[in-house]
Amino acid sequence: MPDTQGSIHGQWSSRFVFILAAVGSAVGLGNIWKFPYITGENGGGAFVLVYLICIALIGVPIMMAEILMGRRGRRSPINTMRALVAEEKAHPAWRWLGWLGVVTGLLILSYYSVIAGWALAYVFRAGAGLFTGANADAASALFKDLLGSPESMLAWHTIFMAMTGAVVARGVRGGLEKAVTVLMPALFALLVVLVLYALYEGDFGRGFAFLFHPDISKVFQHCELLESGVKSCRFNGEPLLIALGHAFFTLSLGMGAIMVYGSYMPGNASIARATLTIVVADTTAALLAGLAIFPIVFANGLEPASGPGLVFQTLPIAFGAMPGGRFFGMLFFVLLVFAAWTSAISLIEPAVAWLVENRGMRRVSATFGVGVLAWFLGIGSVLSFNLWSGESFQLLGKTWFDLLDYLTANILLPLGGLFIALFAGWVMSRSASRGELRLGDGLGYRTWRFLVRYVSPALVVIVFFNAIGLI
Ligand code: PHE
Ligand code: NA
Repeated sequence: MPDTQGSIHGQWSSRFVFILAAVGSAVGLGNIWKFPYITGENGGGAFVLVYLICIALIGVPIMMAEILMGRRGRRSPINTMRALVAEEKAHPAWRWLGWLGVVTGLLILSYYSVIAGWALAYVFRAGAGLFTGANADAASALFKDLLGSPESMLAWHTIFMAMTGAVVARGVRGGLEKAVTVLMPALFALLVVLVLYALYEGDFGRGFAFLFHPDISKVFQHCELLESGVKSCRFNGEPLLIALGHAFFTLSLGMGAIMVYGSYMPGNASIARATLTIVVADTTAALLAGLAIFPIVFANGLEPASGPGLVFQTLPIAFGAMPGGRFFGMLFFVLLVFAAWTSAISLIEPAVAWLVENRGMRRVSATFGVGVLAWFLGIGSVLSFNLWSGESFQLLGKTWFDLLDYLTANILLPLGGLFIALFAGWVMSRSASRGELRLGDGLGYRTWRFLVRYVSPALVVIVFFNAIGLI
């Protein structure tokens, strides 16, 4: 397969644009909404440490694998897998990997859009001055108010899904390039402003220690007081699975989003350098968000483990107290919506690209069909926070939203990533992967191959077995 030949969907105009788009996909609600709240729920520092280890040993090599497979296949993930299977004369069962990714992307998009809808709602709340002078109780009340109104959550979810569809229908390149160049740096700048605010007005010391002081016993030990009065502790591996799953989620790995963007990547660009940039940007955004949020949590006596509402209940306190807070608050939520938007686009693109390639559908119709499906599934997540929050609507103690989030982030993405690593490491020939990576045959290439063949798959399998109680 000559790599000078681009994808039928077009090609990014430069190496830089590929990086921008991939950073746009990676940096999103995962960094600013999800990372802080799961860190809060899982006890802080030790969880963050495991997450960072997963990023380095699993995220980096698998991201390189996904990009190189996409660029070699030059098609939507489903057809890329088909092409690579043909090229390597591999077993046809590998083609399922593409399908797994498409389904996972749709499931994630369905609830991602609901949370992005919260951010949209908050743009207007900030603009209306509702944060002014808000204390912790007022900020919580404001959030509960939104959750209590399925109609307005549904409306915002619908608007966000329509926004996503509007961009995807026109093809990923139209408009996206310019917007990402300006708005992404603005989001980073505003995160820095928030960290500075937290430094002066929050309990920065405690927030910092919570994030970076790894207290293993707090995270991985589950203790009970027995009837005899003896305290009994056992190892609790669940945070391992959540940290692993989040490493995939935050880097957009394991479902073909990065693969499909890789298929639009010019042949002469360095995959290793692109990966490094994407990973550093994504990790920085998450850590900045944590540094902005936890000092405010502690200074206001809030509960770090308060769940998916954490960001929406803490940042309004900061905006309500800082000079120019109305403007900054609005700007922040606008940028958050934008970050979510560029991620949502990559969640839907594999499915749309496939419908265009194989069903000969027009981009507009394909986008409409897929968007409506994801929108419909999203209604379950809207209701999870109100009408369906009760126990009678739960399965395995989880609401529809919790269940989808758990299934996709902690199971489907790591599973997809595991098979991507195995395919790139064991099925693809050395000459194929070496040719795409262009690292020569030196230490860099050999380290990558070792990680992708042994280390990443083994770690994913160990964490899985641990979660289902086998180890
Ligand atoms: N990485 C995105 C985020 O952190 C979410 C995402 C997951 C996007 C999987 C695409 C694929 O918000
Ligand atoms: Na992310």
